[in-house]
Amino acid sequence: MSRKFFVGGNWKLNGTKKIADELLGNLIKGPLDPNVEVLIGVPYVYLDYVKEKAPCNIYVAAQNCFKTEKGAFTGEISPSMLKDIGIDWVILGHSERRQIFHETDTLIAEKINYALESGLSVVACIGETLEEREAGQTEAVVAKQIKAIKDKICNWENVVVAYEPVWAIGTGKTASPQQAQEVHKILRKWLADEVNETVSKTTRIIYGGSVTASNCKELAKESDIDGFLVGGASLKPEFVDIVNAKK
Ligand code: G3H
Repeated sequence: MSRKFFVGGNWKLNGTKKIADELLGNLIKGPLDPNVEVLIGVPYVYLDYVKEKAPCNIYVAAQNCFKTEKGAFTGEISPSMLKDIGIDWVILGHSERRQIFHETDTLIAEKINYALESGLSVVACIGETLEEREAGQTEAVVAKQIKAIKDKICNWENVVVAYEPVWAIGTGKTASPQQAQEVHKILRKWLADEVNETVSKTTRIIYGGSVTASNCKELAKESDIDGFLVGGASLKPEFVDIVNAKK
C-alpha cells in the first residue's frame, strides 16, 4: 500500500494578508509535485482569507481547535466553525501547544477525537524533548503520546501523524535521516501492534523539526518518512523545494 507524500507548512504565529498573498503566490507559481498533498496551517484570523484564495490542491488548516461545538469557552474555536468556513484540516498536539499552553496528552486526544468526529482531518503531533531523548526515553514518550490518541479515536483514516522532536523545532538542529527513520519505524510498528496492520501501512508519518530545502531530500529517502511538517522554512520560497523533495 503506498502512502502519498504529505508536506505541511505551519505558519505558526506569523503573517499578514500581504504575507499570505506572497506565500500563496509562491505555491501557486510552484510548480508543485502533483504526487504530494500540500497543507498550510494558517492563523485563525486569516483562514477565511487564505481559503478563498488557495487553489483546491492546497489544503488550508487551522493550528488548533477545541473539543466541543459551542459554549462558554472564551477564546476557543470549534471544529464546526472551521467546517462552516470551508476548513477541512487542523493541526493538533503541536509541542508549542503542549509546552507553552500546557495541553496534556488527554486533552489533545480528546480534541483529536472531536475534530475527527466533526469531519475534520487531523495532523496529530508528537515528539520528545531533548531531556527525554538524552535520558533514553524517546520510544516510551512517543508511545505514550500516540497511545493517548489511540485510546480516544476509532478511525485513523483522516489522521496524519507528525513526529516532531522538540529539540529539533526551530533550532536548526534537524534529526539526521537515521534518527528520524528510527522513530518513524518504531511508530509504524507500534501502529501495527496496537492498532492493526492496515493502519500501520496506510497512515502517513511525517517529520518536523528544522526541515529546509537543503536537508529535505535526504530525509525524504527514508522508507518510513512520508513527508514533513515545516515551520520556519514554510515562510520562505524554499517551501516549494521541500514540497518537491521526492522529485
Ligand atoms: O510545525 C512545525 C514544526 O514545529 C517545525 O518547525 O521547521 O521551524 O523547526 P521548524
